[in-house]
Amino acid sequence: MKKLVVLGSTGSVGRQTLEVVSAFPEKFRVLALTAASNWKLLVEQARKFHPQAVVILKSEYYPLVREALPKEVEVFSGEEALCEVASWPEAELVVSAIVGMAGLRPTLSALSVGKTVALANKEALVVGGDLIRRVRLKTGARILPVDSEHSALFQVLKGHRRREVSRLILTASGGPFLRTPKERFSEITPEEALKHPRWHMGAKITVDSATLMNKGLEVIEAHQLFGVPYRRIEVVIHPESIVHSLVEFRDGSTLAQMSLPDMRLPIAYALSYPERLPLPYPRLNLSEVGRLTFEAPDFEKFPCLRMAYEAGEKGGFFPVVLNAANEETVAAFLSGSIRFDHIPQVIEETLNRFSFSGKPGSLEEILRADDQARRKARQIIKEMK
Ligand SMILES: NC(=O)c1ccc[n+]([C@@H]2O[C@H](COP(=O)([O-])OP(=O)(O)OC[C@H]3O[C@@H](n4cnc5c(N)ncnc54)[C@H](OP(=O)(O)O)[C@@H]3O)[C@@H](O)[C@H]2O)c1
Repeated sequence: MKKLVVLGSTGSVGRQTLEVVSAFPEKFRVLALTAASNWKLLVEQARKFHPQAVVILKSEYYPLVREALPKEVEVFSGEEALCEVASWPEAELVVSAIVGMAGLRPTLSALSVGKTVALANKEALVVGGDLIRRVRLKTGARILPVDSEHSALFQVLKGHRRREVSRLILTASGGPFLRTPKERFSEITPEEALKHPRWHMGAKITVDSATLMNKGLEVIEAHQLFGVPYRRIEVVIHPESIVHSLVEFRDGSTLAQMSLPDMRLPIAYALSYPERLPLPYPRLNLSEVGRLTFEAPDFEKFPCLRMAYEAGEKGGFFPVVLNAANEETVAAFLSGSIRFDHIPQVIEETLNRFSFSGKPGSLEEILRADDQARRKARQIIKEMK
């Protein structure tokens, strides 16, 4: 039985991870579960999966969780506790499914003691990619991608030599506003942005999919995971979300991974790698799908994708600032403080106003730059009102 720690178990990826675990109880055992504030679901999950420990980030919910669970389950709260369970000695696989930059420290904590990490938390790689690479070199820790596009690339690249790869091609559904004229972007409401045509995900990634920032973050994630230069990572819009990504090899052959859009598949592959599990979920029927279409992304209509490429190319603190500004603007949009079309404007302005120097050498430097960028973004948001 593989012993798992699930960071962010109450989220969309966390819940689907536990669905896979439920389908294969003889294969997996849950050691620890974590949430930020959804204590009721955390308690429900703990009653079902009997972990040794749970972490509720926000201390105000600690007494409720403690009271609801039997004494055998250890209950902790706070960020340090997240890092502690992420490096739990018995854990064999840590599922990193916290949303946003908040996942960086626990993910680093797991990697720095050599754990294998099933990584959904792309923001950790975007902001801490170089640091994560250094830590992995030191400890030999492995990352198994959970993001469907990166899982597709990982599956296709298996057994091939890195030097034979000429291009990585990431597919993108295009989000709910693919066909919406740009002039209407100022009227888009959070409710509209939260209706993704293909995937049911957490709120932040759903808005990122609508601006195409999600694809931009995935381009940086692909660069960090597979070491391919940005000029050889492409994005293609594929509204049906059946082809999850492709690799072109130097002989001109292009290989793809296809399946129905269902996150349980890439999650299960990361959980059981290198084995493939006999998953009990619906299968792809190509004659029912009928048509697969592809088109080039519109960088002018979706400037977040362009900014992410540029930040990735520049490296250093650029991805940290891009991500911090994005997290702040998405939160501001969801709370009704700014318009949808303000999102790229605030991010661009934050990047313009930030005084960049040097490269992030440590976690503390990343956290400091993240904090400064968030303050700048909030200031810009205030000026816009
Ligand atoms: N959803 C998908 O299909 C999908 C696909 C590919 C990649 N991803 C990536 O996977 C990650 C998770 O996405 P999601 O859609 O599952 O997000 P989500 O539904 O919003 O869930 C986020 C999880 O993280 C916890 N959390 C939130 N803020 C936290 C903090 N500051 N510290 C510690 N824990 C915190 C949440 O706890 P509470 O429930 O208590 O708030 C929840 O368990 C993201 O990086 C996303 O880009 C998601």
